[in-house]
Amino acid sequence: MSTAQMAVPTAAELPSIGAVLDSWQTDDGPLHLHTGDLGWYSLRDSEATAQAMRIWRCDDKVLAIGLLDGEDLLRLAVDPDFSHDDSLAQQIESDIDPSDSAAPPLDNAVFGKGSAIVEARGATCLVARLAERGWEADEPWTPLNRDLNLPVEAPDLRVEVAGPDNAEAWTAVHWSAFRGMPYTVDDKQRFVQRWHTMMSGPFSSCAQSLLGYDHSDQPVAVTTVWSAGPNRPGLLEPLAVHRDHQGHGYGKAMAIAAARALQQLGSSSAAVGTESSNVAAVAAYSSAGFAPRTEVRDLRRNR
Ligand SMILES: CC(C)(COP(=O)(O)OP(=O)(O)OC[C@H]1O[C@@H](n2cnc3c(N)ncnc32)[C@H](O)[C@@H]1OP(=O)(O)O)[C@@H](O)C(=O)NCCC(=O)NCCS
Repeated sequence: MSTAQMAVPTAAELPSIGAVLDSWQTDDGPLHLHTGDLGWYSLRDSEATAQAMRIWRCDDKVLAIGLLDGEDLLRLAVDPDFSHDDSLAQQIESDIDPSDSAAPPLDNAVFGKGSAIVEARGATCLVARLAERGWEADEPWTPLNRDLNLPVEAPDLRVEVAGPDNAEAWTAVHWSAFRGMPYTVDDKQRFVQRWHTMMSGPFSSCAQSLLGYDHSDQPVAVTTVWSAGPNRPGLLEPLAVHRDHQGHGYGKAMAIAAARALQQLGSSSAAVGTESSNVAAVAAYSSAGFAPRTEVRDLRRNR
């Protein structure tokens, strides 16, 4: 086989890249980059998503798919049939961490100079190569999944599929959970617009956003689930409970609702990954029947 070449895809290529990435998701495989991760990134629009991606192809066959989720974090999935392929690993390694560090970075370089993180779960050869070059283990993450071949109970919360009219409520809950600061008119305008962009973007056909209401019909919890197609693991990204309403079982209920939604979409399991330090998230998913798997760590370059 000839050498794999790295390229930045066009926005028009995103659906076909998503289809390849879907085919790499398996219940017993690693929780690596998922189409749902691309979907969540597509809040920024298709062009920005394509620009943030790096694709390694050989003879038109896609062998690795990367998303620059921030300028110093590359999240990567490698075709499971090539996870032990050292020539692919060597090519990706040289694109990620060129030996000639004195040379100016290429236009489509993966990283600039300085520190960088690679998430390459399941990419056995690449991980070994980067470790050999002095890349160190970063903070631990906990992947969790729930088997959807078994029945999923009804959540203890009223949960609706969020449509365009719910964008403001959905984003307000998310903002509160992750930012915890006032949701200004400008913030709202921007985030609502981004939500619409995501929910009508190149991965929207596999997405379902959910909104949970408490007994007084207040929106309190949100999630978006992303199917990778029938009989494959679907992803939760994100899950959030409004800061004023945490600790009342809504996170657990929403994770159950997400599992149920994915089951209805034909997924074989519901998968999620969280920093192990996010004790509340690990506890909420575990309480919702998600089984924690072995912790995983990204690789960090400190140079
Ligand atoms: C993570 C999050 C969704 C949990 O939602 P929540 O409504 O507060 O959690 P719940 O009340 O449903 O709690 C579910 C379980 O987790 C436990 N739990 C919740 N917070 C906890 C904490 N800080 N420490 C330990 N356990 C905790 C609860 O005791 C409960 O356990 P039980 O069911 O065995 O009694 C919420 O904290 C949040 O939105 N955080 C910010 C966004 C985030 O981190 N999302 C997840 C990213 S992957």
